[in-house]
Amino acid sequence: MLFGLFKKNKPAAAADFSFLGTDMHSHMIPAVDDGSDSIETSLELLQGFVDLGYKKIITTPHTRPDYFPNTQADLRARFERLNPAIAQANLPLEVEMASEYFVDYEFLQQQDINNLLTFSGKHLLIELSTYQAPPNLFETIFQLKIKGYQLILAHPERYGYYASDFSQFEKLKDFGCQFQVNLLSLTGIYGKPPKELAMKFFKNNMVDFLGTDMHHAKHLESLKAMQHDGKLMRLIQGYEFLNASL
Ligand SMILES: [Fe+2]
Repeated sequence: MLFGLFKKNKPAAAADFSFLGTDMHSHMIPAVDDGSDSIETSLELLQGFVDLGYKKIITTPHTRPDYFPNTQADLRARFERLNPAIAQANLPLEVEMASEYFVDYEFLQQQDINNLLTFSGKHLLIELSTYQAPPNLFETIFQLKIKGYQLILAHPERYGYYASDFSQFEKLKDFGCQFQVNLLSLTGIYGKPPKELAMKFFKNNMVDFLGTDMHHAKHLESLKAMQHDGKLMRLIQGYEFLNASL
């Protein structure tokens, strides 16, 4: 009986990502995209970041006009509404907000590239379609570079269309894009091809950041469960990331 009570009260163990310090990819702003749907859920997930050992997160709701009808003003307003709840919960976690910008063919027409949500200076998180890259991708990247943005490409391992032409990834690096691999890609949660591509980036020393891309409780549970994969944890602990510089 006592043993049962003890087990129940013991906090669930979780993988320790404190060596990363900062996470710069998640969806914690309530009801603006496919991430958290309420302030309560956000607080639970933010507590999850604490359990995983993070000290700071830069949450990055989607900016993707064809899927999510939000604006920069909406995102800021929702973040301001979440902030008092974070303060009240007294979480030992610094929380900032930027955005994850979906770069498609029309990006330069649809966005005011003088006014994008960045973090740690002019770091800008961008993502691409998982089906095909826009034909004007490198032109778009060039225009963003001219404006002084330091581009971070979210989950390049999910862009399988470049897997058979790996030089495209090298070209993205040559254009100054930093690569952010999703932690959960390494577990195979998005399938085998992204896992293999992620491993190839590691092998070629192309990974700059690791991100959670946390959307919901299932992601949190999968991240916590990474503690059981000692080999994987040793691989990432032996690699140098730039997360803590943010
Ligand atoms: Fe994301």
